Amino acid sequence: MKLKTKAALLSFVWLIGILCPLTSIIYLLYAQSEQEEALESVQQVSSAIMENILPSQLVQAGNSQLLRRYLTNHTMIRVLDQSSTIKNQAQRGYEFPAIQPKITLTPESHTEEFNHETVMIVRTPILQDQDVIGTLELITVPVELQQSLLRLFSIMCIVALIAIFFSISASFLLSKMLFLPISRIIQAMKNIETSLEIKKLPLDRKSKDELFQLSETFNHLMARIEASMQKQRQFISDASHEFKTSLTIMDGYASLMSRWGYENMDLHQEALHAVQEECARMKQVTYQLLELAKLEHEGRLTISKFDLVKLCHESIQLFQPLTSKVIELSHDQSSIILQTDLFKLKQLIFIILDNALKYGQQHIGLYLSTTPSSYRITIEDDGLGIHPEELPLVFERFYRVDRSRSRQTGGSGLGLSIAQRLITQLKGTIEISSVLEAGTSVTLTLPLS
Ligand SMILES: Nc1ncnc2c1ncn2[C@@H]1O[C@H](COP(=O)(O)OP(=O)(O)OP(=O)(O)O)[C@@H](O)[C@H]1O
Ligand SMILES: [Mg+2]
Repeated sequence: MKLKTKAALLSFVWLIGILCPLTSIIYLLYAQSEQEEALESVQQVSSAIMENILPSQLVQAGNSQLLRRYLTNHTMIRVLDQSSTIKNQAQRGYEFPAIQPKITLTPESHTEEFNHETVMIVRTPILQDQDVIGTLELITVPVELQQSLLRLFSIMCIVALIAIFFSISASFLLSKMLFLPISRIIQAMKNIETSLEIKKLPLDRKSKDELFQLSETFNHLMARIEASMQKQRQFISDASHEFKTSLTIMDGYASLMSRWGYENMDLHQEALHAVQEECARMKQVTYQLLELAKLEHEGRLTISKFDLVKLCHESIQLFQPLTSKVIELSHDQSSIILQTDLFKLKQLIFIILDNALKYGQQHIGLYLSTTPSSYRITIEDDGLGIHPEELPLVFERFYRVDRSRSRQTGGSGLGLSIAQRLITQLKGTIEISSVLEAGTSVTLTLPLS
């Protein structure tokens, strides 16, 4: 069952649950008060008879005429003597059920059911000199009261039915209105599922209710999915471009070799060298891509305690034999003890140092400094620098400032993307500043603990 139908049904049941007992209570209370009022008026008639007609006249046979003056519609007045014999009787406009005459010593009044008919009976003892000489009986069938109660009942039923009809229509309308944005979201999701095309919901800017917020959140989510899909597409196209370049080079050399390679030994050598180089490049790119994917899904850190100064010394010792450029380390403290992921920090330093060596000219500086809550590693080079406009782009995957230059240096444009993910995992920041033809400086700031 749809949520919309459920909500409408629930409100309908709720309304019936309230309306039925409420109308019944109103009806019963009204009927009771009306009956009490009717009985009271019969008692008043009885009192009037007792006041205006002498007891002896009442019990004397043949005085029915005296009673007639007090008759109202659907009423019977009887006078009984002590042996329950009817002495006088008057009645108007009704076929009364056969109610047995009954004498009484005390006044009594009540409502009874006779042959499925409501009858009001008022009995008053007739006293003469403190002696009970008979009973005055007033019997009334409250036809008008029953008719008016029936009318009331019919009106209440009609009103209740109208209320139920309007409430059902209103609740259906309301639930339709309420669930319309949800239906739209479901439809949009179905469309996305079938067409794989991102769609947004139209927003009603006037209301800022929960449904508006839901639609807005859905649109935000769609925007993020769209951006991530776009990034993914870009990534796939960049990655395939990267592999395509290497494959084209290898294919070219393979064709050359098949044509001339057996005769020309130099070409043979050149081709082999190029294929080897491209294979190494592809291996490196694949390794870096796997590294990136791993970093995106895994955020686990292996914390250990170590000396940063020692780590930088070791890193320089590792890189120095591979280059003629001078790498210099300077630090304000003889040892900086850190508690972080050693492997990830080492990876970070290697990426930045590798760039400085690739793009620097003669001198690379590695500066360490600390503040009470953080430490800084700054790596500076004296290379060609990066244009200010390109600075924010260097962290994007496969972005290289000068593609031809990078090809010579062997870069694939993934180093800084990996560095950025690493620094985020270590809860630090990376800043890059550069002056064209003067050099580049990269600063890593990390918390001390
Ligand atoms: N110190 C630097 N001096 C000048 N340009 C730099 C420097 N560091 C990075 N760049 C520029 O930013 C680009 C992106 O750097 P990144 O480290 O991400 O990739 P890469 O060095 O080209 O390749 P990879 O690091 O994946 O081998 C580089 O191609 C280079 O153009
Ligand atoms: Mg690099």
